[in-house]
Amino acid sequence: MTRTERTRVAIVGAGPAGLLLSHLLHREGIDSVVLDERDRDQIETTVRAGILEQGTVEVLDATGASERALREGHRHEGIELRFGGEGHRIDFERLVGRGVYLYPQHEVLKDLIARRLADGGDVRFGHRAISARDAENPVVEVETPDGERYELVADAVVGADGSRSVVRTLVTGSQTGGYFREYPFAWFGILCEAPPSAPELIYSASPRGFALVSQRSETVQRLYLQCDPELDPDSMSEAEIWDELQARVAGTTLHEGPIFQRDVLRFRSFVAHRLLNGNALLVGDAAHTVPPTGAKGLNLAVADVLLVADALIEFATTGSRAGLDAYPAAASHRIWRAQHFSWWMTSMLHAAPDETEFDLHRQMGELESVTASEHGSAYLAEAYTGWPLARL
Ligand code: PHB
Repeated sequence: MTRTERTRVAIVGAGPAGLLLSHLLHREGIDSVVLDERDRDQIETTVRAGILEQGTVEVLDATGASERALREGHRHEGIELRFGGEGHRIDFERLVGRGVYLYPQHEVLKDLIARRLADGGDVRFGHRAISARDAENPVVEVETPDGERYELVADAVVGADGSRSVVRTLVTGSQTGGYFREYPFAWFGILCEAPPSAPELIYSASPRGFALVSQRSETVQRLYLQCDPELDPDSMSEAEIWDELQARVAGTTLHEGPIFQRDVLRFRSFVAHRLLNGNALLVGDAAHTVPPTGAKGLNLAVADVLLVADALIEFATTGSRAGLDAYPAAASHRIWRAQHFSWWMTSMLHAAPDETEFDLHRQMGELESVTASEHGSAYLAEAYTGWPLARL
């Protein structure tokens, strides 16, 4: 006989979405269990995204989920677009009166985990969700680090378990059920020990391909090179990587330093056909994936979670399904705007391998339309810093 446990909300995935949801539910007295197959150290040390929209930081701060993001995050009031050998600053603050914060995702995770544990939250590291069944009366089959199995029975189950979601099949009927697009390029990302090379991020479209100069801290930098999706990250020497980066951001001399992490990020756009089935829901990367160019992934997950938290609070306190049933339509506006923005930034800045001369000139025309026009720049600034959130 398999052991059975009960909770109000079973949350699969201890990423930003799952942990924030658990925190917001706790504030209204609603119990949840968060499951993640990874251990705490893995979650807190894996380096992922770095840019938080102003609204994301405000939510984290106002709900007591992370006061550090606002205090210790670096506020950026613009980015630079570089093309045709020249830099063009997009001044977010002047254009839309908003900014973004450079505050690494693993720091957000450290804050959320510390908060959940300090509040007595039930976060089960090393507990792998094997499957989820019965959307009306959800049951999650779980395996402990010792290989023991138990069933977690809940009023609702939320898949916050990333692009390889176990909950997705229960919601959409299949693992792949969604709108999907794959891109013919990827980013080769590095982390290095060096001071920042520029005060703000540089997005550079060069004839050799795209490069992004991002940051992590005063001593660690994150940089990316557009590459073939099949590139072996160990196939380039450090000198080759720096030469390529320097060539693609001509005009700025990058501060070089030892490279201590390399990875290749595939570019995919995905939106699940369904976000809700009965009492089973999808949020964050389990529901949708964006290419990294617009830095929208984590922010979009937070926006989903605000809607789902309110819906589950209403469901738990009044029994009304109104918020739950409204979730897919409510979330999809932002999801598709972010899909468009991420695709647009990507297509504007990257040359595909089969790009024609026409395409390249059209791309320059597009970059000029954005940088030479107040209205073009303002669209980028508005989307990059983030559209208004439901709660704020
Ligand atoms: C990052 O620092 O990882 C980063 C920043 C901006 C992006 C994408 C990734 O658009």
